[in-house]
Amino acid sequence: MDKLIIEGGNRLVGTVKVSGAKNSALPLMAATLLTGGEFTLTNVPGLKDIETFSTLLSHFGAKVSENIDNTVTIDTTNVNQTDAPYELVKTMRASVLALGPLLARFKKARVSMPGGCAIGARPIDIHLKGLEALGAKVEVEHGYVIVSAEELTGADIALDFPTVTGTANLMLAAVFAKGTTTITGAAKEPEIEDLERALTDMGAKVEGAGTDTIKITGVEADALRAIEYRVMPDRIEAGTFMVAAAMTTGNVLIEDCPKDNLQALIEKLKSSGAKITTEAGGLRVTGDKPIKSVDITTAPYPGFPTDMQAQMMAMMTISSGLSVISETIFENRFMHVAELRRMGAKIRTDKKNAVINGVRELSGAEIMATDLRASASLVLAGLVANGKTTISRIYHLDRGYEKIEDKLNKLGADIKRVHNDNK
Ligand code: EPU
Repeated sequence: MDKLIIEGGNRLVGTVKVSGAKNSALPLMAATLLTGGEFTLTNVPGLKDIETFSTLLSHFGAKVSENIDNTVTIDTTNVNQTDAPYELVKTMRASVLALGPLLARFKKARVSMPGGCAIGARPIDIHLKGLEALGAKVEVEHGYVIVSAEELTGADIALDFPTVTGTANLMLAAVFAKGTTTITGAAKEPEIEDLERALTDMGAKVEGAGTDTIKITGVEADALRAIEYRVMPDRIEAGTFMVAAAMTTGNVLIEDCPKDNLQALIEKLKSSGAKITTEAGGLRVTGDKPIKSVDITTAPYPGFPTDMQAQMMAMMTISSGLSVISETIFENRFMHVAELRRMGAKIRTDKKNAVINGVRELSGAEIMATDLRASASLVLAGLVANGKTTISRIYHLDRGYEKIEDKLNKLGADIKRVHNDNK
């Protein structure tokens, strides 16, 4: 298993380019299941999760190319399987996104029920309720969700919570449903808008993404065609670089930065003392000391993203005061706290809240990555810590950050990846 060894203390200076968004690429890959043909997705990040979804699509019978120069071609002409086994789903919850398009195209699907994961229980009840509203029969048997329908019919679906993959799944399921489907209380995340753009290019009739009401008017199956589509840039990767720049009192130009989708983070970084300016080439973040403490409460978009909570907490560990961070989306997303404490951070947690008392300096330590964004926060902590930080289990990081150490090293960080067969 690989480890990262970080020598802390370097300011980050230079230019970094943001990769395509994992959380957009995955639903877009799922959308290719809706119709037969050869799709070309560009700006696809080179990530483990993308490989896993490619394996899943291949399992269904699609011909999926390797990701070469961030381009993946997916030929879904011969898709003939509608069964996603446990072995494939257990490594990536986003596999559940196959339910909607398979049901829409083949009127049936059997997908292993994703289990809980490190950050929370993460049920899919809202997805399933929505599919039922469209007329599907939903059964859960032997750990599998089995959905089937003679015909899907448009319906008014009110979501109990604006679930992101739930919204995507229902948009995908409703593409051919007779009549109109209205999803209210929908997720407003930019990745949902990206999915709407792609579906519209394919010939589907979808409107309203980016608001809390999405309308899908069913089209005939032959109205859809395969397309070429560019995945939007990754706002969470961009946000992680922004925090890295601010924390290291660096000066970094972030290219391809979806700044309009990062307003909640930008506001918090500005309040903490960072300077953020828009330039022709991207967004420039300049850090300043002392880092002022800010309070954060995560919320669905456009609120402060839960996927940036751990990184901001890493930054608050070296702030000049007291900061309260409240996590409202996932019930167990503070696993980085114990590792940050091992580096000298002063953090107390109580259920949803973490109180961080800024310290002058973190000290390098041997720590362990636990989930994707927690891993990113540990890398950030390692960048500013005194001495050497060794992070194990970084396969979590490789699920969502493309070449992170190369990108940070180009900015002046000192990060080495070492391979260790024993651990
Ligand atoms: N929820 C339910 N029932 C459902 C669906 C969700 O109770 O049927 C709950 C979840 O348990 C959670 C909350 O609603 O407490 C939000 O979950 P949501 O469904 O919105 O999350 P998701 O779609 O599973 C996506 C991202 C996550 C990101 C969240 C929140 C993808 C593939 N994943 O997950 O990304 O944290 O939205 O923004 O898009 C990451 O990239 O590190 C990551 C975890």
